[in-house]
Amino acid sequence: MASDSTPTDRAHSVTVDTSVPHSARIWNYWLGGKDNYPVDREVGEQILRVAPVVGEIARVSRAFLVRAVSHLAGEAGVRQFLDVGTGLPTSNNTHEVAQSLAPESRIVYVDNDPLVLAHARALLVGAPEGFTTYLDADLREPENILRAAADTLDFEQPIALMLMGSVEHVTDDEEAYSVVSRLVDALPSGSYLVFNDATNVVHPEEMAKLEQLWNSEGSAAIAQRTPEGIAHFFKGLELLEPGVVSTPLWRPDSTDIGEPRAVDAFCGVGRKP
Ligand SMILES: C[S@@+](CC[C@H](N)C(=O)[O-])C[C@H]1O[C@@H](n2cnc3c(N)ncnc32)[C@H](O)[C@@H]1O
Repeated sequence: MASDSTPTDRAHSVTVDTSVPHSARIWNYWLGGKDNYPVDREVGEQILRVAPVVGEIARVSRAFLVRAVSHLAGEAGVRQFLDVGTGLPTSNNTHEVAQSLAPESRIVYVDNDPLVLAHARALLVGAPEGFTTYLDADLREPENILRAAADTLDFEQPIALMLMGSVEHVTDDEEAYSVVSRLVDALPSGSYLVFNDATNVVHPEEMAKLEQLWNSEGSAAIAQRTPEGIAHFFKGLELLEPGVVSTPLWRPDSTDIGEPRAVDAFCGVGRKP
């Protein structure tokens, strides 16, 4: 299941079908990446027409990753990251942000998408002082992730669990809360949960159209939750300021131009006491 710097057999066997749209490539398109094909761009544009805010959601989510990881690897002194639902490599991947501040950081990436696996080698070129690895595993089977991650991460030391846009793909609420709490329960005191997902309260009509179109076209269905539903994932954790907020409003950069505006992505960072 786990792969270090050598690609697995599954990665070799991945055939890239460029005739059907793929959700990871559509997301990559909205992020301004290059790993997408005309069919992905077509569906990406179709969704942008009914929900123009979606491109902004992709970008602000990635910008939150940079701010959260910078805080954790910087002031909070975290050196281990478990990033479940990695997506296709883009700029400012978790290991790049963490290792730019603390080169010894160890990162375990996890995704269940064969296409992400096929691109995973691009994620494995990290700082020589640190370590980066990739697991081909499913969020809905957290015990498998924890078992394999223990080969790389020390579960006696703080770990930042990153769930960035991945839990919305676990569409059943009960299963989603169970999966996250089983992961958090395995982390030692002083660990963190970094969470970001789509909501449906700021632009409800656009978001309803987005969910409908995405679920009919994309290969991984989503369920948008309310901000309260997202806050529930932090049960038992100490929320860092400013709590669970619309993603652009979580500690916006002083270099940001203009006032950040709320969109339907909500996020938070919580510390395990
Ligand atoms: C919206 S993308 C977010 C990518 C990246 N974390 C970011 O914030 O830009 C969601 C990712 O979660 C992954 N994902 C969805 N369901 C998953 C599952 N059950 N197990 C592991 N990864 C999953 C998808 O393959 C995709 O790469």
